[in-house]
Amino acid sequence: MKTEKSQTFVNPRILGGNATRTCSIAGVGSYVPDRVLSNIELEKIVDTSDTWITTRTGIKERRMAGPEQYTSDLAAEAARRAMAHAGITPDQIDLIIVATITPDTPFPSTACWLQHKIGAHRAAAFDVEAACSGFLYGLEIGQQFVMTQTYNTVLVIGAEKLSSIIDWKDRNTCVLFGDGAGAVILRNRPQSHGLLTVCMGADGSKTGLLGMPGGGSRCPASHESVDERLHFLRMDGKETFKHAVTAMCNAAREALHRCHIEIGQVACIIPHQANRRIIDAVTERLHARADQVFVNLEKYGNTSAASVAIALDEAVRAGRIHRGDLVLMVAFGAGFTWASAVIEW
Ligand code: UT7
Repeated sequence: MKTEKSQTFVNPRILGGNATRTCSIAGVGSYVPDRVLSNIELEKIVDTSDTWITTRTGIKERRMAGPEQYTSDLAAEAARRAMAHAGITPDQIDLIIVATITPDTPFPSTACWLQHKIGAHRAAAFDVEAACSGFLYGLEIGQQFVMTQTYNTVLVIGAEKLSSIIDWKDRNTCVLFGDGAGAVILRNRPQSHGLLTVCMGADGSKTGLLGMPGGGSRCPASHESVDERLHFLRMDGKETFKHAVTAMCNAAREALHRCHIEIGQVACIIPHQANRRIIDAVTERLHARADQVFVNLEKYGNTSAASVAIALDEAVRAGRIHRGDLVLMVAFGAGFTWASAVIEW
């Protein structure tokens, strides 16, 4: 269906004073491991059912990385595909930002592991941790470097091996998550609006509702912490659900408001893929049409920081996004954190 199009939107960055420089997504790519874990297979692992998972979440299957496949390996494949799409080589990358909650190692950063793997030897590299909002946080950080002319080419990746922190005895969480990675190349593209705005937010009073209690300075690894299963992801799903809907709606509205656009002008909405019911509630509250919204969570489940990036890549490849289209992305995750972005593609 054709979306209403108008040229009334503005780029807040450009109004901010830099009229000649913009930041665009020059290339996008994603990668998910081959191994598919279906709901039917999960029925054999925990007390659950395909019917429960499908009706409560919309998820049918998810991807699982192999034992020798780390977050940086998933990120590297996504990065190679994004570089190919942008037509650039690794030596052109100035900065690598990896958003993840499942780094290869607590330190050094996954971005450094990745830098070596893809041969981007000129690039500075660091990780961002904003859980499921991490890719959009990374996008905002990356674009700041492009807009200030500090760097010309920035690689931003959301990558997760969530299977490494899933408690396979906890049916409340183990059915929800999957592994994967998505990447974009940010560059200045003259005569284009590019990334119009990114909004970010956080509420640190809700840290107890979603996270991994063990492994940090609060609770270093010990025999006891392992026995208590503190090195796995834990979530109060019901509370998280409510906050997710409210925060994603507010973040989406703020981004639209900043760009002076209406939801009807957006060609494609890419929400964080956590739960079909969250996406439907956000769609309804934003008065968006279902056909504006891109959904792929039935195939991958919740891939946290990778979710929006993978969906963006699939939407582009599926022909859902064309040059000049307005794209709205919105995410919510542990922290709590949230973020939204509007791009003129
Ligand atoms: O990525 C960051 C953001 N994450 C999210 O936004 C996730 C937010 N939360 C959710 O998506 C949903 O809350 C869940 C999918 C996690 C849970 O759905 P729900 O409708 O909130 O279910 P519930 O937690 O209220 O559980 C309902 C029942 C419980 O049984 P009782 O206590 O009513 O007897 C659960 O024990 O469903 C039970 N249950 C399950 N049953 C079968 C929970 N997990 C499962 C399961 N299979 N896997």
